Amino acid sequence: MAASILIADDDPVQRRLVENMVQKCGYEAIVVDNGDAVIERLTGPDASAIDAIVLDLVMPGLDGMGVLSKMREAGISMPVIVQTAHGGIDNVVSAMRAGAHDFVVKPVGMERLQVSLRNALNTSALKGELQRIRHSREGRLTFSDIITRSEAMAPILRIAEKAAASSIPVLIEGDSGVGKELFARAIHGSSERRAKPFVAVNCGAIPDNLVESILFGHEKGAFTGATERHMGKFVEAHGGTLFLDEVSELPLTAQVKLLRALQEGAVEAVGGRKPVKVDVRIISATNRRLLERVKEGHFREDLFYRLHVLPLTIPPLRARRDDIPHLLRHFLARFAAEENSAVTGISGEAVAYLSQLDWPGNIRQLENAVYRAVVMSEGDQLGIADFPLIPAHAPPVEHAPPLMVERPAAQPAMVSGSEIPIAPLPAPHQVGTLSMLSANGEVRPLEELENEIIRFAIAHYRGQMSEVARRLKIGRSTLYRKLDEATGEDAAPTTRPIE
Ligand SMILES: Nc1ncnc2c1ncn2[C@@H]1O[C@H](COP(=O)(O)OP(=O)(O)OP(=O)(O)O)[C@@H](O)[C@H]1O
Ligand SMILES: [Mg+2]
Repeated sequence: MAASILIADDDPVQRRLVENMVQKCGYEAIVVDNGDAVIERLTGPDASAIDAIVLDLVMPGLDGMGVLSKMREAGISMPVIVQTAHGGIDNVVSAMRAGAHDFVVKPVGMERLQVSLRNALNTSALKGELQRIRHSREGRLTFSDIITRSEAMAPILRIAEKAAASSIPVLIEGDSGVGKELFARAIHGSSERRAKPFVAVNCGAIPDNLVESILFGHEKGAFTGATERHMGKFVEAHGGTLFLDEVSELPLTAQVKLLRALQEGAVEAVGGRKPVKVDVRIISATNRRLLERVKEGHFREDLFYRLHVLPLTIPPLRARRDDIPHLLRHFLARFAAEENSAVTGISGEAVAYLSQLDWPGNIRQLENAVYRAVVMSEGDQLGIADFPLIPAHAPPVEHAPPLMVERPAAQPAMVSGSEIPIAPLPAPHQVGTLSMLSANGEVRPLEELENEIIRFAIAHYRGQMSEVARRLKIGRSTLYRKLDEATGEDAAPTTRPIE
């Protein structure tokens, strides 16, 4: 997915020229003809879509210098490459002092602009990453560290931001690798508690007999092996946030104590004599439906209601495929900068291919795939071949389960011929069936069926889009358009009401 470059120039010819070059370099170009429009874009709703600016210094109205100083006032840090006419060296010096990243002399050549843009984007990605690491270390990750532009995520972010303004207990549910901990850290980092500790406990990773001591602490000699006094995670998190990861795995005995601690705002160390008051905000996370655990008798209902005051459900990546190109770009820029790699982009084909995979390991899996691809790649563009391990995670085509929802047994007898083979191949080659009916027995929309056939074809031809287009007998641009249209349609429900 290409980075977006904002081009500001009052001269239409120059504008067109730079726009052309930027596109040829493989980036997306957004053009404006004055300085005010730049500021509007940078402060508008789509500001996060812009990655760098090519800015003309001399413009009527707000000029380039004016833009730079307004950016600084507003605390917007984004790489700016200034364009100057030949001989405008004084302006260049002032512009660089005002925070410009680089300058080019008009008329700029393609190669010069490309190098400048690449450096600017790499530096900014590296800066972003360093800031992220620093933030995370200091417990100050915020919502701006969460990369998403999916509609499916917007309401979740809104609720999480509201939650950050209070100390309400939050329960985050979602599959492995969807970003539960990232959300928990962002809530803490955006709350008034951000200067205090964020303490994470993986409840699933502690041996049963140590859970209580780790959460609530123990006195010296409280049990065999307790050679030192230990203060416990609750006390450690005093004033800040305690993140109870995999909370569904907490043993029942520890659940009783946790409930008491939450009710009383105090904890009692193992072997301790009196409870200690603690002020802790609880965020818990689980990749299982906690309510199911309650129904199965593994989780106390009263504790469930204490933790589940504000539930947030983060949808899996396959339910917000429109995020995939943005995440790809983010991870690509980050790893390319970190690894000092020559990789500058990823082919449209690869983006389309990766966007239709199911990603059972969600964002973590995508992150690792990009990391590996950047390290192993030999060219400057990542292509489908740079993601060789991914198909192993997708269902192998030969043994793919039927592509469709199975008919419920209770359905009335189906019209004969309501299931058609995906391809008119003789039985031994039949690799999947396309069900014409949905789970409730109604005929499925044409668009949905078409989308499924396209995804099947992409998996079948392992992402070779020319082959896919040829076999489906449609043009490649039609194929990409259809993929674009389908992306994000299957967004999952975002948050659930309190149950
Ligand atoms: N929206 C996002 N933008 C950028 N990075 C993300 C995003 N979501 C997740 N990540 C990254 O993906 C990785 C996995 O995220 P995280 O650890 O928060 O997931 P999780 O839901 O807690 O996973 P698990 O259930 O396996 O513990 C982390 O490196 C995280 O920084
Ligand atoms: Mg986690």
